[in-house]
Amino acid sequence: MGKQRVLSGIQPTGDYHLGNYLGAIRNWVEGQNEYENYLFVADLHAITVPHEPKQLASDTYTLVALYLACGLDLTHSTIFVQSHVSAHSELTWLLNCITPLNWLQDMIQFKEKAVKQGENVSVGLLDYPVLMTSDILLYQADKVPVGEDQKQHLELTRDIAARFNHLFAKDQPVLKLPDPLIRKEGARVMSLADGTRKMSKSDPSELSRINLLDTPEQIQYKIKRCKTDPIRGLTFDDPERPECNNLLTLYTLLSGKTKEEVAVECQDMGWGQFKPLLTETTINALKPIQEKYQAITDDKTYIESVLRDGREKAQAIANQTLSQVKAALGYLAPV
Ligand code: TYM
Repeated sequence: MGKQRVLSGIQPTGDYHLGNYLGAIRNWVEGQNEYENYLFVADLHAITVPHEPKQLASDTYTLVALYLACGLDLTHSTIFVQSHVSAHSELTWLLNCITPLNWLQDMIQFKEKAVKQGENVSVGLLDYPVLMTSDILLYQADKVPVGEDQKQHLELTRDIAARFNHLFAKDQPVLKLPDPLIRKEGARVMSLADGTRKMSKSDPSELSRINLLDTPEQIQYKIKRCKTDPIRGLTFDDPERPECNNLLTLYTLLSGKTKEEVAVECQDMGWGQFKPLLTETTINALKPIQEKYQAITDDKTYIESVLRDGREKAQAIANQTLSQVKAALGYLAPV
């Protein structure tokens, strides 16, 4: 039996942070030998909210370089840009026509983002989960490694796939139902400014997140300023201390220690002792990624060749699924 297939992606909207790394990229890298991986830059998703055209291409390029710098290995992983494979847009249209509107109106992320935009909410924002569904189903993915915030989108993906198979491919299912792969630790990294909100690119405060390309000085400054509490002795899982739980979790994941080891190490610490420790650990964990990023990012020819290869491999699979979907829907095949 061949390897199971993994698919996942990140939006190129600048400021890639520890949440993206610990909730997604790091898990892709750790599991990559086990799977056949398709990892992409979700640039079509990036325009569902107002965006800056001058930034889109460079944010996309940076994210590809970061994927490589974080350790994605091209012998196991195919890296590509979503907009380079037109099947994503085409399948979205086809699936739009079988997706009930109220399934999309119920999406938590839509409701949250729509509130922020008032009257300017685009159809694209509402339709975003169908695009994400297409991303996944095109590759017949078995597993989708993501952070906790994407769980509802994956449930919708399964619902749409099942509905399609039921309506148009009863005898022989065309679309595979994927399973989410959400790790317990790191699936929900919280903001440094408020331990009850998730760390996010769209938070207007830079102090709320640590970015993968932050300098040691920036990291030190952000950790120094991050929200804590007045209690001495640091503990996990106290609902009254969300910041404490978040910072200890970050320390655990970035140091490679176990939760039990960290619980013992930090049980008598005050913040004055813990913050420098977290700062040093974060700087050291990000250093190899940043060094590799610097080496890769200037090599435009290499990045272009990675994306050319990626596009070809991705297109081959995506176009095959698209043809099967069109055939099931009854379209006349081109000659
Ligand atoms: P995006 O770009 O918002 O986030 C990319 C990945 O990072 C995870 N993540 C987090 N994990 C833990 N803690 C956090 N604070 C945190 N913030 C973000 C996300 O869960 C995600 O795994 N819709 C997706 C992109 C996408 C996609 C796909 C993913 C488009 N098509 C197909 C998987 C499969 C998104 O906006 O992720």
